[in-house]
Amino acid sequence: MIDPITAQKIKDAADIVEVVSDYVHLTRRGANYMGLCPFHNERTPSFSVNKRKNFCFCFSCKKGGSPVNFVMEKEGLSYHDALLHLARKYGIEVQERELTDEERAEQSERESMLVANEWAMLKMEKDIFDTEEGRDIGLSYLYGRGVTEEAVKKFHLGYALDKGSALTSAAKNAGYNIDTLKNLGLVGTSKEGREYDRFRGRVIFPIINSAGKVIAFGGRDLKGGPAKYINSPESIVYKKSNELYGIYQARADIVKEDKCFLVEGYLDVIGMWQSGMRNTVASSGTALTDGQIALIHRFTENITLIYDGDAAGIKASLRGIDMLLGHKMKVKVLLLPDGDDPDSFARKHTPEEFRKYVDEHETDIIRFKAQVLLADIRKDPQRRIDAVNSVVQSIAHIPDPISRDVYIQECASILGLQEDTIAKSVARVRGELVDKWKRERTKRDFPTQIPNAAGNNEQEESKQSVSSPINTVSEKENQPRNVVKPTESPMFPLERVVIEYCIKYGFLELCSVMTDENDEGDEYSISVLDYVAEELEADSQSFSVDIFAKIFELLKAMRDDYAVALENFSAKLNEDIEKRRKSGINNIASSDMSVMEIERAEKKLEEELDSYRNETLIEFSKDYPGRQLASHEDGEVRNMVTELIRERHQLSHIYMRDNNVVERDEDRLGVLVPRAMTEWKGELLNLRLKELFTRFHDISGKGDSEAESKLMMEMNALMRLRSQVAKDIGERILSPRSKK
Ligand code: CTP
Ligand code: MN
Repeated sequence: MIDPITAQKIKDAADIVEVVSDYVHLTRRGANYMGLCPFHNERTPSFSVNKRKNFCFCFSCKKGGSPVNFVMEKEGLSYHDALLHLARKYGIEVQERELTDEERAEQSERESMLVANEWAMLKMEKDIFDTEEGRDIGLSYLYGRGVTEEAVKKFHLGYALDKGSALTSAAKNAGYNIDTLKNLGLVGTSKEGREYDRFRGRVIFPIINSAGKVIAFGGRDLKGGPAKYINSPESIVYKKSNELYGIYQARADIVKEDKCFLVEGYLDVIGMWQSGMRNTVASSGTALTDGQIALIHRFTENITLIYDGDAAGIKASLRGIDMLLGHKMKVKVLLLPDGDDPDSFARKHTPEEFRKYVDEHETDIIRFKAQVLLADIRKDPQRRIDAVNSVVQSIAHIPDPISRDVYIQECASILGLQEDTIAKSVARVRGELVDKWKRERTKRDFPTQIPNAAGNNEQEESKQSVSSPINTVSEKENQPRNVVKPTESPMFPLERVVIEYCIKYGFLELCSVMTDENDEGDEYSISVLDYVAEELEADSQSFSVDIFAKIFELLKAMRDDYAVALENFSAKLNEDIEKRRKSGINNIASSDMSVMEIERAEKKLEEELDSYRNETLIEFSKDYPGRQLASHEDGEVRNMVTELIRERHQLSHIYMRDNNVVERDEDRLGVLVPRAMTEWKGELLNLRLKELFTRFHDISGKGDSEAESKLMMEMNALMRLRSQVAKDIGERILSPRSKK
């Protein structure tokens, strides 16, 4: 358990831009940051990050939230573990008590698997350095293959002792669940039912995901056994087709270099790393998948595929390139001399030579394809036609029309054909592809489309549909989540509106009121939250939906903290304003204006500072409740609040007044909030009336005239009230109760 103060410290420290940047390459767009959504595969950025609100959101798949939410969702962690994750990131020390057996059992399967994997990695890493067997067999093998100690440590390479079930016993002793280790493929069961270490006697390559979690292992045989490598099986923590070996170590360098090298094997990644090309990942011997491309695309658009220069390598390089091109990747290919892989090439050459080779031999993939195919088929007309069609197919996958044109020109000259001929073919194939994608898209999106009042992600969506093939890998992730929680209560939508205003604008002023106690007329302001609370109290009414009632109580309880936070914030703001004032005054003083002009300029400066101050304070107040509650420990609260602010993030209501003045919701609180309250009340009255009608129907004609007339009176009163409320809903002007 994390104590509340530390928890708050972690939440305050967690910056959404920094947290998201661990997974997504963000670029600034105005006040926000945008990037490719880490929750679904996409080629056009829909993922927006708002630093000030400390909130992120995908316009396409609707996932996102506070830093805590983001980490929970991305890493599949519990609330508690997401906080720990953030604490680690921000170097915040957390004193945790030992988990009880019960709590340990409660940990989600995924978490315990990750914990066990991490433990196994550290153990095998320790064993390669600290045991004789580890050093003599594991480490000496790696050194013999030119792997440096630095690389062993960087990639957390290890050695699994060749001692039957040494790891299995150690895991038991450390309190790990053996079933978990079996699911992870660390422990196997023999035909006779004996447990054994599956990786025993092998050098270990841990596979670490982009967030630093150990999700799988590869173990290399050292004895010339039949299986050169054994790997962890697929599990809930390891979806092979979505992972790349080395991504964790390469991530930052991929962003820095804005480029990624793709190789085949573990040792190739390490060889490249030792040659200074640290932006390298491996697909681990399988064909590249959509998920893997999307993973790379989060960090860069530029990818260079590195292959052995033999026939198989050339063939491999041509595989999957249409998919890469469709992902808007800029693809190059590098063939190494026949017989060399990056690992062996790195060993034969200095890093400088390797780099020079890369620079000189990297070729654009389509140019490469055209050349290879041409060299292959010069004489045979049918194969020549096939080759041209294949190149045309690739070009048609490129989303950017200008790039397509460039390739059309170039390939025409390589293939010795008319530019026009190729252009026409490309256009035809492109048309077919786009049609196909559109069909798949409708099929996929239509049934799950949720009605959306403002529908302003329309643009984003259609942009995507033209430029990108639809991939089928993460169908599930692409489906928008239901925004409104299904609920039985007829009050739900009405209460929801009110609670939404409270979360978004709770601490903003709804109106200010003059007390008429003394002649000076003391003015005080009523916040949205105060207003709603008072209205509810006056009618002895409360939220009927539990989660709203809970959130409302939390908001009310937040008032003191808010006051303190506001004070701190405005103290800082005042310093900022003082600085701005000084520099403004300096500017005025150093210009040669007349005294009158100076006076005017100074007045203008003061006005500007004033409005800056107001706006900034409003923004702070507006964001405060959401910021707090979006990372609240209660999952139900967190989810509801996240949904509510997510919508705000998505839709910004803007109204045009008659005189063309743009108004935002927060400028019309005096109208919106009372109206929402009135509508809620109106519906309550309706329900109450319905109930009375039913009762009346039940008792009428049964001779209890006293009860009948009592009911009738009550119903009459309610109906009068209702018509008053109905009138109010249209035209209600705010008349807050003045304080006694
Ligand atoms: N691979 C695997 N299982 C195998 C063979 C290969 O999982 N039986 C994967 C591994 O990820 C390996 C990659 O495919 O790293 C490339 O295979 P290969 O080139 O055969 O292995 P290297 O990594 O080059 O290993 P070495 O140089 O030691 O032969
Ligand atoms: Mn190799």
